[in-house]
Amino acid sequence: MSNNLLTVAYVAASALFILSLAGLSSQETARKGNVYGIVGMLIAFIATSFSPGVTEYGRLGSVILPGAVIGAIVASRVAMTSMPQLVAILHSFVGAAAVLVGIANYLQLEQFQTGIEATIHQLEVFIGVFIGAVTFTGSVIAFGKLQGIIGSKPLLLPGRHLLNLGLLGASVWLGVQFMTAIPLSGLQPLLIMAAIASVLGIHLVMAIGGADMPVAISMLNSYSGWTAAAAGFMLSNDLLIITGALVGSSGAILSYIMCKAMNRSFLSVILGGFGAGAGVATTEGSAQPTGEVTLATVEEAVEVIRNAKTIIIVPGYGMAVAQAQYSLSEIVKILRLRGVQVRFGIHPVAGRLPGHMNVLLAETNVPYDIVLEMDEINGDFAKTDAVLVVGANDTVNPGALENPTSPIAGMPVLEVWKANTVVVMKRSLASGYAGVENPLFYKDNTRMLFGDARKNLDAILGQLSYV
Ligand code: TAP
Repeated sequence: MSNNLLTVAYVAASALFILSLAGLSSQETARKGNVYGIVGMLIAFIATSFSPGVTEYGRLGSVILPGAVIGAIVASRVAMTSMPQLVAILHSFVGAAAVLVGIANYLQLEQFQTGIEATIHQLEVFIGVFIGAVTFTGSVIAFGKLQGIIGSKPLLLPGRHLLNLGLLGASVWLGVQFMTAIPLSGLQPLLIMAAIASVLGIHLVMAIGGADMPVAISMLNSYSGWTAAAAGFMLSNDLLIITGALVGSSGAILSYIMCKAMNRSFLSVILGGFGAGAGVATTEGSAQPTGEVTLATVEEAVEVIRNAKTIIIVPGYGMAVAQAQYSLSEIVKILRLRGVQVRFGIHPVAGRLPGHMNVLLAETNVPYDIVLEMDEINGDFAKTDAVLVVGANDTVNPGALENPTSPIAGMPVLEVWKANTVVVMKRSLASGYAGVENPLFYKDNTRMLFGDARKNLDAILGQLSYV
């Protein structure tokens, strides 16, 4: 393939990646966005494979084929609830690749460059290996935390900020040694820096608690983008630079949006320390809620639903675990046929990954126009007859607004308690991901329907269908 054709292919792939991001910004166009991304990647892959510098097709095939097969098998088998782990481990591959490309590139090209060209190249290598190593180990730790191999409690070492600064300072010092070393003898400071950056990645993510993991993942997503961009500079590959910059900046924007949704400052998230274990009832940092818990049976829940003219459904992580979206979608169909106004209220960090609930609801063909964002629906709870909370907890916790000592104080939440009656479907009074008690369960207008969300919704569906 000629260089001109390669450039045309790269421009086309870049344009498709931008169209893909634009498409992914709304549910209606998300499918199209995905297709643009796939086509863009296919063009990029074919063009790079046939570019003038590539000759060893046997060796290329021997790594690409097993990689593609393993990737396809893993991705097709992964459950929706385990998607964040998959994303985390994929980020770690980008980081590891950048470290290896950086080292190989240094060893290969160092001898052929001189003057300012060599200085710039060395800088690209050093920065690329640094970000790559942080991304690699940070993502492996994030994977471990999300998979439950490592506890989600933040590791708060005494003087941890000083330790981070020390590791950063040591890397800068090694950078100076690397830049001033005679050709090829910079390998030693480069490798030592890679080891130090790996420790930094581990420490940074170990200090991030479970509740902040979504931001950590999107932050690592952003790092992996910058890593790819750095690799693009090392390899003089424009497409890799553009793609890396797109991933890097979109990851950074997503991290910012999520921080806003959780009322957390970005700096406090990446410096860590918030969020204990998942699913463990705790009173730490928040007052024990007072009042009585009112239990409900399936029949009572059906009664509440039958008497309501307006209903808002608030799904959360528990809906994903129970795979309750199918039964929910059937209930919604029946109610809409009966003229009931049914809408969904989606919190920006409901579930375990951005857009988690939207994907599950889209899977069951719930119409997009009844799925509303928190800001769009929060004002309507006060004029709503019934709210069905399906496996949501932190995202409907009034303590976030009412209790300034709560660990999630200030986080915007769906104000479900303002509705006439709230039916909460979960298995117990256990806390959600942030590990804080939820006063919603003790409110006078709340009815707790304990049990697996799918089983209960199936039972409700059964009773609604026959009347
Ligand atoms: P959570 O606060 O995590 O609560 C989910 C609830 O679902 C649990 O309290 C659990 O209670 C219940 N549950 C689990 N399995 C169930 C089942 N089979 N049937 C019925 N209920 C079940 O969920 P949320 O309201 O969606 O909030 C999300 C939380 O995760 C936030 O704290 C957020 O910051 C964090 N987070 C979000 C993301 C993103 S980007 N969305 C990523 C990581 C973390 P029981 O055990 O009593 O059943």
